[in-house]
Amino acid sequence: MRRVLITGGAGRIGRLLTQRFAGDYAVRSFDVAPHEPPDGVEAVRGVLGDLDAMVEACAGVDAVIHLAGIPSEALWEDLVRTNLDGTRTVLEAARLAGVPKVVLASSIHAAGFRSRTATPLPAWSAPRPDTFYGWTKAAMESLGSLYSDRFGLTVFAVRIGAFQETPWTEADVPIWLSPDDCVRLFRALVDTPVTGFRVVWGVSANSSGWLEHDGEIGYAPESDSENVAHLAERSDGNAHAHLGGMFCDIPLGKPRW
Ligand SMILES: NC(=O)c1ccc[n+]([C@@H]2O[C@H](COP(=O)([O-])OP(=O)(O)OC[C@H]3O[C@@H](n4cnc5c(N)ncnc54)[C@H](O)[C@@H]3O)[C@@H](O)[C@H]2O)c1
Repeated sequence: MRRVLITGGAGRIGRLLTQRFAGDYAVRSFDVAPHEPPDGVEAVRGVLGDLDAMVEACAGVDAVIHLAGIPSEALWEDLVRTNLDGTRTVLEAARLAGVPKVVLASSIHAAGFRSRTATPLPAWSAPRPDTFYGWTKAAMESLGSLYSDRFGLTVFAVRIGAFQETPWTEADVPIWLSPDDCVRLFRALVDTPVTGFRVVWGVSANSSGWLEHDGEIGYAPESDSENVAHLAERSDGNAHAHLGGMFCDIPLGKPRW
């Protein structure tokens, strides 16, 4: 049974993955927030910046899924400390503990200023961040690339789209990631024999989507937002102009919630 450390295990995506991975993987969850993990999951409480704690959490692990962080626009200093310094601690701890694979939660907002393309946009296309948040995600990706090239770690950066039960707004429809596909994607990334550094889009098989799926890693999405698009609230015209939607217009460095 593969052993997986999930940082941010108390968060929205982390809770889903710890629940759905339990039993199939030996799961350890790491989070600053107190959390009651599902049966069979080991919970560790700690902060991202604590290298010793992170090395300990990485002991004996086959793959780290790094989700912990600030998931939206926030103060520059907070974003850099948590998303960037925190990711460096995770990569460094993985290297020191001999973990061969790290999966980083990047975001669509690392490429938020991309506009719809006639052919599916590859995930390896250069970042075009839409916020300070998106910039920290782009920087995380390139830090992962550095650790992969320098130290031979396998690092996958997932540009996660709109992870929601159903798309909240029309702008979320082409970039929706259903909970079931989210589990499929992270399972594929843990299980794939593919090595090295790569960026992948974290979206479902949306009919209205325009992001290229990476078949090589074994991710076969099954959800299509078309079937639930009628539940989405209207978005104004501007929100459709770019991949990042309204994030392209929000004030930089202002916490959103
Ligand atoms: N939810 C989405 O639609 C979405 C989209 C794109 C990217 N992402 C990325 O996926 C990841 C998870 O997203 P989420 O929606 O589950 O976020 P979330 O806010 O629900 O969970 C993040 C978790 O990280 C923990 N955390 C934050 N700072 C920490 C620190 N310094 N030390 C230890 N733990 C810390 C929090 O306690 C929380 O439990 C984030 O990195 C986010 O940027 C999410």
